[in-house]
Amino acid sequence: MGSRHIPVLVEEVMTFLRCEPGHTYVDATLGGGGHASEILRRSAPDGVLIGMEWDEDALSDVRDTLMPFGDRVKILRENFIHLPDLVKAESVDGILLDLGLSSIQLEKGERGFSFRGEGPLDMRMDERTNESAADLVNHLSLEELEYILYHYGEERWAKRIARAIVQEREREPIGTTQTLKKIIYRAIPRRFHSRRIDPATRTFQALRIRVNDELENLKKILETGWEILKKGGRMCIISFHSLEDRMVKETFRSLEKEGEIRILTKKPVTPSEEEQRGNPRSRSAKLRCAERI
Ligand SMILES: C[S@@+](CC[C@H](N)C(=O)[O-])C[C@H]1O[C@@H](n2cnc3c(N)ncnc32)[C@H](O)[C@@H]1O
Repeated sequence: MGSRHIPVLVEEVMTFLRCEPGHTYVDATLGGGGHASEILRRSAPDGVLIGMEWDEDALSDVRDTLMPFGDRVKILRENFIHLPDLVKAESVDGILLDLGLSSIQLEKGERGFSFRGEGPLDMRMDERTNESAADLVNHLSLEELEYILYHYGEERWAKRIARAIVQEREREPIGTTQTLKKIIYRAIPRRFHSRRIDPATRTFQALRIRVNDELENLKKILETGWEILKKGGRMCIISFHSLEDRMVKETFRSLEKEGEIRILTKKPVTPSEEEQRGNPRSRSAKLRCAERI
């Protein structure tokens, strides 16, 4: 059977969102629907949830998961950057963004997100748009590849890996996750292969972020998402990457200075040791929350 995505920091998110009957919430990253179900349970009997998800695969599962909540749920297949065009201004009490990838996406080999199994080098979360990871590794310039690996993956061997990719694709286009993994393994000197994190981790993460414009999307929603919140409404963001967390922190701070929002998490909230033991994926999660004023 397929895997399940375990939602992170559920109690903490619910505390900040203050789910109540009669209120309206947006889960902008539905994934497996874990947070969404909890928001709906806690806002029963008449709270409303607008859910967004751009991955058709994920959507077909989450539709079933949320079916019991009937017409209290409205699901949209969209990139969350379009929220302000789709939801009425000042109509929502809380927004949740739980960024990145779900375990379900990661574990489906044919999506190409994981270096653990064989699959096409795809990595698009929304298959309607964007170039795939294969398009990028086969067509970007050496400098662009190096930039992406260094900045989005924080990969210290970015130059060597980018060079190896360019050399390899001259012989034959790179099409699969395992081909790319082998190139990365050869490019990083053996004695620097870490046991703690797979040598391919940073490159795969960097390509995924670029394929899906993840930083660009976060930047846009941080600028415009507030429009749909009522005064006193809250935005909660869970990120898994230091670049994302920094972007959230800095944007929150500058909006607070401008008197637009009030930050509710001076420091990011992180999962308890118990949660981390039960769900290792939660280890890098950071939650920040702010209120529109
Ligand atoms: C970490 S998972 C969310 C898990 C969810 N909170 C749960 O409890 O199951 C992130 C989900 O957001 C989706 N996603 C990422 N960026 C998106 C975007 N810009 N627009 C819409 N959905 C997005 C991904 O496809 C993925 O399914």
